[in-house]
Amino acid sequence: MRKFEDPETLRSWARKARLAGKKIALVPTMGALHEGHLSLIAAAKKKGADEIVVSVFVNPTQFGPKEDYAQYPRDHVADAKKCVQAGATAIFFPTPANMYADDHSTWVIEDGALSGSLCGARRPGHFRGVCTVVAKLFNVVQPDFAVFGQKDFQQATIIRRMVRDLSFGVEIVVAPIVREATGLALSSRNAYLSADEKVRALALSATLKDLKAGVAAKGKLVWKTARARAVSALEKAGLRVDYVEAVDAENLKPVKTLKAGSAVLLAVFDGKTRLIDNCLV
Ligand code: PAJ
Repeated sequence: MRKFEDPETLRSWARKARLAGKKIALVPTMGALHEGHLSLIAAAKKKGADEIVVSVFVNPTQFGPKEDYAQYPRDHVADAKKCVQAGATAIFFPTPANMYADDHSTWVIEDGALSGSLCGARRPGHFRGVCTVVAKLFNVVQPDFAVFGQKDFQQATIIRRMVRDLSFGVEIVVAPIVREATGLALSSRNAYLSADEKVRALALSATLKDLKAGVAAKGKLVWKTARARAVSALEKAGLRVDYVEAVDAENLKPVKTLKAGSAVLLAVFDGKTRLIDNCLV
């Protein structure tokens, strides 16, 4: 597996691979890799990529001033090992300095149609940072396709929109959420949870499962009633609700009725840790 730090070295390697007719996949991550991330590498392999580039970069511009940028887990040695085992052919570990010049001043901003709600409303500037870094990664690697996780449903929707609106010509593949046997969605931030908090966190997936079962049984649910039940289950488990929303899975617009084609997205604070989860109905 090749390791790169400098974007220009990666760019020329990727260009050569492209000229040699290789199909290139990109898997953008912030590292502290777990089975969820590795499933994206597996999806890239399954789709026939000849070169699979995993980027590992804790992107400073997508963190708010009071968020966990400094504390975010970083382990390049373990990440590189996992990438090799999972079948990645290149790993990109840029430093903040080689991604952002001191006077960086150009940003990719989704105008709010998709990023003005949910996590975007609670984390101002977050998706500006995400879109900008992903656009930069696309420009460096120029992959045939890039794999994202459904775990970050709003992010995947915004990236798809960005690619369409700015004609990136990169196919976006979205892979399903990988969960522990308990139902807890894998996340690098789960490392922050105490044993008690981890038990509380099970209410996220349990709540989503309950909502899905409700729709499966009744065909649809009045969201106002279903939401109240969901909020109360989360609070009863000891979680502080940030949001619980039902949206149209395509355009993220709120829906009044939960039915096939809707998605439920939720964010909670479990102690100091913010966790997100979602499901497609
Ligand atoms: P990060 O949180 O490291 O996630 C990288 C990718 O892994 C994202 O596409 C995310 O949805 C996916 N992922 C995380 N947990 C998953 C799980 N349990 N199952 C399946 N996929 C999972 O998302 C980011 O980094 C950043 O915002 C990034 C896109 C890299 C831009 O900085």
